[in-house]
Amino acid sequence: MTKKRVAIIGASGFIGRSLHKQLAKKYTVTGTCYPREISGLYFLDITQATEVNKFIHKTSPDIVIHLAAITDLDLCERNKKLATDTHVLGTQNLVNTCQNKSIKFVYFSTDNVFDGKKGNYNEKDIPNPINVYGKTKLAGEQEVQKLKNAIILRTSMPFGIESNGKFINGTIEKLKNKQLVTAFTDMIRSPTEMSDLTQAVHTLIESDFSGIIHCVGSSKLSMYDAALEIAEVFGCEKNLIHKSKSTDLQLDAVRPYDTSLNNSLAKKNGLKFCTFKEGLIKLKKQMTN
Ligand SMILES: NC(=O)c1ccc[n+]([C@@H]2O[C@H](COP(=O)([O-])OP(=O)(O)OC[C@H]3O[C@@H](n4cnc5c(N)ncnc54)[C@H](OP(=O)(O)O)[C@@H]3O)[C@@H](O)[C@H]2O)c1
Repeated sequence: MTKKRVAIIGASGFIGRSLHKQLAKKYTVTGTCYPREISGLYFLDITQATEVNKFIHKTSPDIVIHLAAITDLDLCERNKKLATDTHVLGTQNLVNTCQNKSIKFVYFSTDNVFDGKKGNYNEKDIPNPINVYGKTKLAGEQEVQKLKNAIILRTSMPFGIESNGKFINGTIEKLKNKQLVTAFTDMIRSPTEMSDLTQAVHTLIESDFSGIIHCVGSSKLSMYDAALEIAEVFGCEKNLIHKSKSTDLQLDAVRPYDTSLNNSLAKKNGLKFCTFKEGLIKLKKQMTN
């Protein structure tokens, strides 16, 4: 039997790299990169409609997983054109090219589409983004909704062995080196363990599911509480962790308070998401192997 062809748009990124590894076991995967050129990946700027068309024509995928984004919230705030071009125009180009073809389309979205006033958001809650990143990612979702049978997968704070430079791995490194950590008490999230996330994508693309789905870890906690759990699991000093507030810093993008997502629908569809502590234990094992 011929293998299905999967195109991963944004395969050089954090989630894209893990997804590429996982899906390559079963599918013929073509990953794209831009603006960094990476050997083995197809160089594609999604803001260029002709290039997007050429790519889809050439690779003729059965499944497109669209991860390309500007994930630096402050950069999005400072450069609204870059965020709009990437999240809205880029998504529109992919949607236009995939429309009327039998391609399964998965769009990665974010908890930042919510204003953070309520928390525990489910798929029926009405988004109300308060920063440019969230607003443009939501506009991207609206483009994707023009497709029949597309999946809009919202996730939050993915973490895994390769997440260098991100909050969770950064905190582990600092605590192990007995350095001080400051962590926000006013940012409540649902961190998501990477292998749960990639397995969820794998299951979803094999299923008939379409629509919005929240694929996040099963805990809801502030970044400060997350740092305390990290210290506990990795056997580090808790008194190295200091409370701070995102509002104390001069950040360009406002951070919504509680964007924890409810993953009941994902669980109903057979997807499994561990708690933050279970995810940290998995990560610790991976780090020691
Ligand atoms: N990380 C999170 O906390 C998080 C949370 C919720 C949702 N998400 C969503 O999940 C998706 C993947 O996130 P991630 O953490 O893997 O992000 P990431 O590491 O920043 O990766 C984004 C990818 O997009 C590529 N890219 C940027 N501009 C492009 C363009 N014009 N054309 C084509 N590719 C372009 C990047 O290339 P380079 O590698 O060369 O920069 C990279 O491959 C995004 O859609 C994001 O909104 C992420």
